[in-house]
Amino acid sequence: MSAIAGPSGPQPTATYDSAFLRACRRESVPHTPVWFMRQAGRSLPEYRKVREGIPMLESCMRPDLVAEITLQPVRRHNVDAAIYFSDIVVPLKAIGIDLDIKPGVGPVVENPIRTRADLARLRDLTPEDIPYVTEAIGLLTAELGETPLIGFAGAPFTLASYLVEGGPSRNHEHTKALMYGDPQLWADLLDRLAEITGAFLKVQIEAGASAVQLFDSWVGALAPADYRRSVLPASAKVFEAVAPYGVPRIHFGVGTGELLGLMGEAGADVVGVDWRVPMNEAARRVGPGKALQGNLDPAVLFAGQEAVEAKACEVLSAAADLEGHIFNLGHGVLPSTDPDALTRLVEYVHTQSAL
Ligand code: CP3
Repeated sequence: MSAIAGPSGPQPTATYDSAFLRACRRESVPHTPVWFMRQAGRSLPEYRKVREGIPMLESCMRPDLVAEITLQPVRRHNVDAAIYFSDIVVPLKAIGIDLDIKPGVGPVVENPIRTRADLARLRDLTPEDIPYVTEAIGLLTAELGETPLIGFAGAPFTLASYLVEGGPSRNHEHTKALMYGDPQLWADLLDRLAEITGAFLKVQIEAGASAVQLFDSWVGALAPADYRRSVLPASAKVFEAVAPYGVPRIHFGVGTGELLGLMGEAGADVVGVDWRVPMNEAARRVGPGKALQGNLDPAVLFAGQEAVEAKACEVLSAAADLEGHIFNLGHGVLPSTDPDALTRLVEYVHTQSAL
């Protein structure tokens, strides 16, 4: 097996043959690989313990803590991939945007970005802005051995929604007002964010991440025509920026049933599916040539072992004829999830899919 050639030379090959990377590339697998969005975080008592008294953004900037938190779910659940512990707003903080992550709320931006003058505050991100990312990933690849590390970033639309609203939003009214009302400023804003996001992902891949996921969590708020016109070009630019590295690129959003085909068109190798569309129907909407990731409703984990297994079995059956399937939840692990239910789910998917 040859090394993965990237712009900076060959990447490590240790994880090249893992079930997770094989499924992303639509190759045969010994079992369906499993990982969970938000597997590193509040559902784990060991996470709450190491985070005690340390604000979220500060913890993202401490390589030792990032490595420990990233490894916790790998040790506990036997998942097939680790996801780098950080947040989608970290690159924005790193270029000097005045924002914080408020517990129980999410990212809050002191001065929202709404005018052409505001755009100047979004300068380029350089590797020197985020030395802690390179350092933490160095620690992680040494510790992880055969287990692949997934790097990630927020997609331009979802980042824009926080920057324009100034915080989390149900209806995205300021964001949509800008998108519909000043299409040129909107396009320039998304293009700027695509540059920053591409740079953030490149740093993670150069440091050793063996796959990347672009989170467009809130893009399901858009109609397909608006997505195609106003969002797809910026997300496609991010995927193109990292294409030369040859690492699998995953594209995920919530409530995106009507957008799945277009999200595939944006250029990812793997399309993430939430729980609202069965995997076989999602495959039909995405079309051939892509692997899919998903899609157990995270709330099912509160229903007891029997129900979890029945619903997981439904996901596996619906995904049986896919070209490549990575088992995941349809969105992130909910904070009050029993961690043992996650461990048992990994075991179940591994056993069931190896039959
Ligand atoms: O998946 C993982 O385990 C890796 C870590 C990760 C975090 N955020 C850590 C985090 C990832 C991949 C993210 C991505 C992220 N951040 C997204 C996209 C994924 C999704 O869930 O849709 C979004 C929209 C954000 C923005 C954000 N940051 C939100 C909505 C919140 C939750 C606010 C709250 O307290 O309810 C955060 C904070 C955050 N990011 C936490 C964690 C573990 C909780 C903070 C804490 O533990 O104190």
